[in-house]
Amino acid sequence: MRETEEETGSLAVGTRAVVDVPATSANLGPGFDCFGLALEWHDRVGLEVIEDGFVAEVTGEGADQVLTDERHLIVSSARAGLADLGVEVPGLRVRSHNTIPHGRGLGSSSAAIVAGLAGALALAGRALDPDWLLRHANRIEGHPDNVAAAIHGGFVLAYADERDPEGTVRVAGVPVLPEISAVVWVPAAPVATEVARGLLPATVPHADAAANAGRAALLVHAMSADPSLLPAATRDWLHQSYRAPAMPDSAELVRRLRADGHAALISGAGPTVLALTRGDEVAGLIARDTPGFAVRGLRTGGGVRVVARAEREL
Ligand code: HSE
Repeated sequence: MRETEEETGSLAVGTRAVVDVPATSANLGPGFDCFGLALEWHDRVGLEVIEDGFVAEVTGEGADQVLTDERHLIVSSARAGLADLGVEVPGLRVRSHNTIPHGRGLGSSSAAIVAGLAGALALAGRALDPDWLLRHANRIEGHPDNVAAAIHGGFVLAYADERDPEGTVRVAGVPVLPEISAVVWVPAAPVATEVARGLLPATVPHADAAANAGRAALLVHAMSADPSLLPAATRDWLHQSYRAPAMPDSAELVRRLRADGHAALISGAGPTVLALTRGDEVAGLIARDTPGFAVRGLRTGGGVRVVARAEREL
């Protein structure tokens, strides 16, 4: 393995890389298109330069639904990354073992994009460059919160720098108290992000925007200093109520959990429900009766990483 080698031109057939990429939760209530949280839940993706053709072999979540040709999101993202690096490949095979459910608001498309781009860097013998990854991943995904968390890990704030004419997205990482965990309730049916975004209004009342800004600031404090504030800090006025008609069971579960004092919210564009909680509350939350939802407790996690890179057999 030659991890520091930089490739240019064409990559040899047989060059391989393996990356692990995390599930992520966006918004976390008041941080619409800004807050992202990486979770200890990963897809593993292998990429290999082959003689010709661009193909994906998928096992696990979504295996029977995703495209397996050059339109597969990991394949197309890896190719976009390699093209930007000026590295040519005669063909590429991606093997993805998916455990992150698709269309549930857990960042599966961001994971695919970041895996493809990180895989491109690894195949090319480059170190993972977070700024390069974020620039390309945000362009492909269209919003930065999930991809920023998948790249950097932990709890991040992503924002466009308006002083930069290109609106470059920047990231600030916020330390998270080690006792803070997440519980997720994943429903069986997906909701497409485009559908959920289509339900949002063009404008919101000033009072709602003001209240939301206060809670977003409070959530940064709650995550890093005072978890007792998590229930108040996860209140949102900008997206969840507008999206509730597309995910009524999830909206009702959020309502019930919040009525019992928990920091429950819709994960990303939904329909997964997520509660931020102290570790000692996880078992009680998992034990609740929530028919129709698969529940699991998750710690916060790190960002994408290269597991291996080699010229031939790993
Ligand atoms: N911030 C995005 C949204 C996340 O809520 O639409 C989508 O995964």
